[in-house]
Amino acid sequence: MVKISPSILSCDFSKMGEECINMEKCGADWLHIDVMDGHFVPNITLGAPIVKALRKTSSLTFDVHLMISEPYKYIEDFVKAGSDIITFHYECDSDVEKTIDLIRSLGCKAGLSVKPGTPVEKVFPYLDKLSMVLVMTVEPGFGGQSFMADMMPKVTAVREECKKRGLDVDIQVDGGISMKTIDEAAKAGANVLVAGSAVFGAESPKDMIASLREAAAKYF
Ligand code: DX5
Ligand code: ZN
Repeated sequence: MVKISPSILSCDFSKMGEECINMEKCGADWLHIDVMDGHFVPNITLGAPIVKALRKTSSLTFDVHLMISEPYKYIEDFVKAGSDIITFHYECDSDVEKTIDLIRSLGCKAGLSVKPGTPVEKVFPYLDKLSMVLVMTVEPGFGGQSFMADMMPKVTAVREECKKRGLDVDIQVDGGISMKTIDEAAKAGANVLVAGSAVFGAESPKDMIASLREAAAKYF
């Protein structure tokens, strides 16, 4: 149930394929791929062609996080590129319901994310169709920022709502997850933990992934 999803944003971009293969060897459950368009967030990263290229190197679950203004337009590209789960933002300019329906109709799992300033209740009307809710624990845009502990009530609120409605939805946190913060996030109810700098900056990414998983698993 607990999954560690290392964020490729913190890898060495000059050898992304190798980094991807290495994450699989290191025991990552998923691979978190951050897509930024320089418009929804003040940074540009990568697009569907890179996801397609990485797909050839690995059979890891590709957890694609779209931080882009008009996700609807690009869903088909990201599905074709080999995404397994596509998460987009509630705050985007596309129609949320239509975008979820499109992702699912193309055979992919859908996730919906909220930025720190957005109440998590905004995702409740869509919960039945979602396989994951992502509660951002930093402002999206960059790796290596500090964890916002004040987002934890949002994690607990969505966990309780899912329980109440008998829904099996993954709850993901993204931003500032490390051995210092993972207990708090997992205790609040997050079972999918994204970690960028903590994993890629570790002396042994393999040991770090195992330690993070062990720390979070205590709460599930
Ligand atoms: C931030 C990205 C995160 C980021 C996390 O906008 O969505 O996935 O890579 O990096 P760390 O774990 O370093 O905060
Ligand atoms: Zn992310």
